[in-house]
Amino acid sequence: MTRSTWLPFAMAALVVAFATVAHGSHLKVGFYKHSCPQAEHIVRNAVRRALAREPGLGAGLIRMHFHDCFVRGCDGSILINSTPGNKAEKDSVANNPSMRGFDVIDEAKAALEAHCPRTVSCADVVAFAARDGAYLAGGIGYDVPSGRRDGRVSISDEVLKNNVPSPTNHLRELVESFKRKGLSADDMVTLSGAHTIGRSHCSSFTQRLYNFSGQLGKTDPSIEPAYAEHLKQRCPWPSSNGQMDPTVVPLDPVTPASFDNQYYKNVLAHEVVLTSDQTLLASADTAGIVDFYAAAEDAWKAKFAEAMVKMGTVEVLTGDEGEIREKCFVVNSY
Ligand code: HEM
Ligand SMILES: *[C@@H]1O[C@H](CO)[C@@H](O)[C@H](O)[C@H]1NC(C)=O
Repeated sequence: MTRSTWLPFAMAALVVAFATVAHGSHLKVGFYKHSCPQAEHIVRNAVRRALAREPGLGAGLIRMHFHDCFVRGCDGSILINSTPGNKAEKDSVANNPSMRGFDVIDEAKAALEAHCPRTVSCADVVAFAARDGAYLAGGIGYDVPSGRRDGRVSISDEVLKNNVPSPTNHLRELVESFKRKGLSADDMVTLSGAHTIGRSHCSSFTQRLYNFSGQLGKTDPSIEPAYAEHLKQRCPWPSSNGQMDPTVVPLDPVTPASFDNQYYKNVLAHEVVLTSDQTLLASADTAGIVDFYAAAEDAWKAKFAEAMVKMGTVEVLTGDEGEIREKCFVVNSY
């Protein structure tokens, strides 16, 4: 390419790179240091109390941050209730009924409003709570840059439309999905390690057990046979007619509640429920990362923290964009 044809491309690349960095860089660690010094402490306590009632809520909060960031950026849009005129993200099949932890956010926000009204965004509460969920389950603590503002729009149809990936996705689709959010294949593999805690509803994987690649009665041969048998016991077919089957299984059958690197060992042992997990072995690159994390727990935990911070900068609103919602489940009326 000659210099004159090359230049516009270089400039376009620069603008894109700058836009990505500029947004994230508006966030800063300790954003509420002066305006609400207790903010992160208040959220941590709300998460602690919630986990004492129901330990699985930590997993819910980590997943909530992911699903928030992948639709209109990390703007708290996942928290908004549907209204008569609008079905919100919360009620997408990707979130309802599986997403949990909304009460924890509302409780934290109520405490925050009592201490420092109209100051801390719901989007930041979700980012803090996700960090706390991982930390309290055994992950490392990390600083969360904050200063996100809350969005005023939440649309159910946007959730699965090129945003939140599906458990039936294969490697290439997952890589594309994360790339659309400025995240790498490496980030994708690192963040998938969150599946070391929490649960899945049977409906997220029954097709693998009973109707593999559209062949009724066939089981995905990539599932370890004894594990497949175990899953069939827990998840009968067909799942109940019409009504959502409430049955759940742990995502990590070995150490279901601890934030360790067991997930990667499960991927290697073919003991994971989702196609989107097993498919990480489909390329030499991503399989290599899985191998590495399966052998190096501390390295994974550190990279996970880093990747969460990066995910937390996706398309954020800052400055005077958006608003500081007073109640996380409804946009301000003014
Ligand atoms: C790579 C693409 C991903 C796909 C396709 C995916 C899909 C899923 C599915 C289907 C479930 C089970 C939901 C249910 O049926 O109850 C789940 C659970 C979960 N996911 Fe992911 N996920 C992905 C990446 C991530 C990421 C990046 C995170 C966070 C960093 C995450 C965190 C979690 C957690 C913690 C749970 C357990 C939730 C609970 O116990 O309430 N996932 N995921
Ligand atoms: C089996 O899989 C095929 C292809 O994905 C799908 O079209 C069909 O509806 C599935 N059958 C059942 C009973 O779920």
